[in-house]
Amino acid sequence: MSDADYDRLKQRNKAIEDRFSTEKRSDSPSEQIGAPVSEGFDKVRHAQPMLSLGNAFTNEDVIEFDQRIRKFLGVNETAPLRYTAEPKIDGLSLSLRYEDGTLVQAATRGDGEVGENVLANARVISDIPHTLTSVPAIFEVRGEVYMSTADFAALNARQAEIKGKQFANPRNAAAGSLRQLDAVITKSRPLRFFAYAWGEVSEAFAKTQSDAIAALSRFGFQTNPLTTSCDSPDAMIAHYRDIEENRATLGYDIDGVVYKVDDLSLQKRLGFRSTTPRWAIAHKFPAELAWTTLNDIEIQVGRTGALSPVARLSPVTVGGVVVSNATLHNEDYIAGLGGDGAPIREGRDIRVGDWVQVYRAGDVIPKIKDVDPSRRDPTSTPYVFPQICPECGSVALREQGDAVRRCTGGLICPAQLVERLKHFVGRSAFDIEGLGAKQIEQFYADGWIRSPADIFTLQARFGTGLQQLKNREGWGEKSAEKLFSAIAEKRQISFRRVLFALGIRHVGEASAGLIATHYGTWDAMETTLTTATIGQGAAWDDLLGIDGVGAVMATSLITAFQNDNERATIDALIAQLDVQEATAVAVSDSPVAGKTIVFTGTLEKMSRAEAKVRAEALGAKVAGSVSAKTDILVAGPGAGSKAAKAESLGVLTIDEDSWLAMIDGL
Ligand code: IVH
Repeated sequence: MSDADYDRLKQRNKAIEDRFSTEKRSDSPSEQIGAPVSEGFDKVRHAQPMLSLGNAFTNEDVIEFDQRIRKFLGVNETAPLRYTAEPKIDGLSLSLRYEDGTLVQAATRGDGEVGENVLANARVISDIPHTLTSVPAIFEVRGEVYMSTADFAALNARQAEIKGKQFANPRNAAAGSLRQLDAVITKSRPLRFFAYAWGEVSEAFAKTQSDAIAALSRFGFQTNPLTTSCDSPDAMIAHYRDIEENRATLGYDIDGVVYKVDDLSLQKRLGFRSTTPRWAIAHKFPAELAWTTLNDIEIQVGRTGALSPVARLSPVTVGGVVVSNATLHNEDYIAGLGGDGAPIREGRDIRVGDWVQVYRAGDVIPKIKDVDPSRRDPTSTPYVFPQICPECGSVALREQGDAVRRCTGGLICPAQLVERLKHFVGRSAFDIEGLGAKQIEQFYADGWIRSPADIFTLQARFGTGLQQLKNREGWGEKSAEKLFSAIAEKRQISFRRVLFALGIRHVGEASAGLIATHYGTWDAMETTLTTATIGQGAAWDDLLGIDGVGAVMATSLITAFQNDNERATIDALIAQLDVQEATAVAVSDSPVAGKTIVFTGTLEKMSRAEAKVRAEALGAKVAGSVSAKTDILVAGPGAGSKAAKAESLGVLTIDEDSWLAMIDGL
């Protein structure tokens, strides 16, 4: 129809909506283009988390991926096992939620748990249907928003004409366009969408990955034509080579090939690690390389005191992005030695002034692959790694077995303090909106925030009075208020986040979660760590009984909680917070919920890894060793000392069949 006819219908629709506001449809044209520019995007929690993928870089990695899966499933090398193989699109993922066939939400990945609802913008992408027929009542379709290389070039040309921003690559252009607050701008940027996965669905719609992709295509989505099905790692690798050869002619950027187990019931059994599925992997293309000169080596001091050398480079374009810094890892790496002490780069060291070869793999920090000694200035000398901390002047020591030299200044080192604070407010830690690395540096420099607890007393100290935050450069009344309320919101916080946020060495996100569920309350953990003796006693045994906690992490935890300075910092913080109790997954019908289980000996019906995952899914805790806290020992043939210990402690010991009978049907 003509524009005029369309406008007339739109006006009539609007008039009807004004009179009968309750009848307004969520896909109404009045809600779309021409709708007021939004002030920001609403946050939405994903019904199922949006995960990332593990990486494979070599053919061996692909073979190992297949072997790992077979081992987990307990099937031998020759049993048939199909995989799908499809390009990994270099864009950004989007989750489209359809309710009763109508698109009601379009969420970006965000941190994987919470994303932003960019519905108005998704609606102007022509590859995204507004309605679907014959789909489950709740149907979340996931895929990649991307921009073709031709559209990207045309966009940059248009931007140049209007002296607007130039985008570094199609991915950045797609991301910038999807997150426009004004959908009219998004509409002017030709975005596309490939569907390749799904989130919450109220009813199963396929039995295999290949069928699911075929169904998505029938429903009206674009699916990638290079998706194929393979029956062996060899076939997967052959398809990878094929796609790699055609990469330049596809018309859009891809950065690898994704392999997925085809059978969805096997995908379900394989399940997920904390952030990646066991049943899929991304086989990445080799990174692009470029030569440039190394102008300087700077030393940065991290939150654990690690002295990290950073290469300052003459800017060079690598894979469409200008690179001017690269990591040099540690002093051995600069000297030409690998982690095992054996030579790397045939023993060539790296010197200031050298020509170096730089590469970028995905989003990660650029690295240096090689150095060209034939172009080296003959008067150059090897780089001498500092033995004192450049930030606080304390001695920097390298402990035996540690590749890294560390500043011994602890909390007197300003660099360590600032980095700890940045970690504290990071995404997986307190994640305070409006308080990122930049603001932390600013507040630290002014002496307003010197420890985590200071964040929570900021409003009391600087909210009112002479030195009001709102009077400072970069802050106004609104932004100051917003910050204070974002901080207040985080007073109530999960146990695992607090523990991870403290940045205790060796305690990562996953371990923090395991420790939290083990102890349940902060007080219980604190009591254990305060009374524990390194290497012996009940508290020590209890710590080591947590799956994934070894002697190194346990020592690090005890040391942190028994050091006076550290402890004062921790206690001051806890006094400001309401730390939530951590509970293991509650599965009300499960007879093993809350129980501590140890597996030992050979399991015949499923691998140890699968048994553990299933037990945890039923709300049990799985421990690595038997103690007085163990409720059940599942012992297969060949069970040795653990079975003896369980017997002496009177722990219930059952065989694999009884275990399966116990969890039957769950
Ligand atoms: S599957 C549970 N398939 O890669 C895993 N992801 O590194 C679901 N991506 O966040 C992802 N092409 O944005 C899958 N064909 C493809 C993909 C793909 C691109 C992206 C996606 C994901 C990231 C993981």
